[in-house]
Amino acid sequence: MVRANSLRARQSGYSGGLETAAPCLALVESARCESLHHALICAAADGLIVWMRGDLERVLFDEPAIHRRLDDMAAQISNDYRERDLTVIAVLHGSLMFVADLLRRIPLPLKLDCLRVASYHGEAESSGDVVFKQITVPDVAGRDVLILDDVLDSGHTLAAIRETLETVKPHSIRVCVLLSKNKQRARDVDIDYVGFEIADEFVVGYGLDFKERYRNLPYIGVLRKELLEED
Ligand code: IMP
Ligand code: MG
Repeated sequence: MVRANSLRARQSGYSGGLETAAPCLALVESARCESLHHALICAAADGLIVWMRGDLERVLFDEPAIHRRLDDMAAQISNDYRERDLTVIAVLHGSLMFVADLLRRIPLPLKLDCLRVASYHGEAESSGDVVFKQITVPDVAGRDVLILDDVLDSGHTLAAIRETLETVKPHSIRVCVLLSKNKQRARDVDIDYVGFEIADEFVVGYGLDFKERYRNLPYIGVLRKELLEED
């Protein structure tokens, strides 16, 4: 069977390793990929996802569940900001996928700016020391600002961002997070829009990282505890 598959693949101009011939043919036959070259790229990507999936304790929200929730959030935000001067401030890097998927669902003439901050410094717990990785604060004077972040945990990050943006005198500030951890916070933050409430666990995927890994996982899951303790 394996030999037959690899022979068929070779005859069609396939140039990958023999071990991926059968999965690549299956991808073409299922019409997910239009050519064996395309299938080779998809099989490699699938392999990467399978490998990252092994580091998860469990999946919390798959892609369809995330997208369904974004449909609702976008509808609410679009309604609330109709005929207002909306500026979205994305908190990088964790909110990248969230922002890209949410904003494509909001049909308003909004402006987008980004802020880069860090407080985790490679650990799984916030240090409380929020460092702004850019010097200029976005010019949001007089505008209706919506801050978008991936997850609310201790509250240090969003509290610091909110205080910093308030110095520029925007017309209003609201906060929207994809995830909110159900826990006692070091700093209180008023949140206006929440995607999902979650338990106090370390999650990765869909933009969220641990030591800069797992951001490209297309869904959100809980990282295995022993990986958090490894150096
Ligand atoms: P806070 O300042 O503790 O509220 O944390 C906010 C930032 O820490 C988030 O924007 C994330 O970048 C990061 N963070 C907090 N919890 C997690 C997690 O479970 N996974 C990945 N990143 C997290
Ligand atoms: Mg973040």
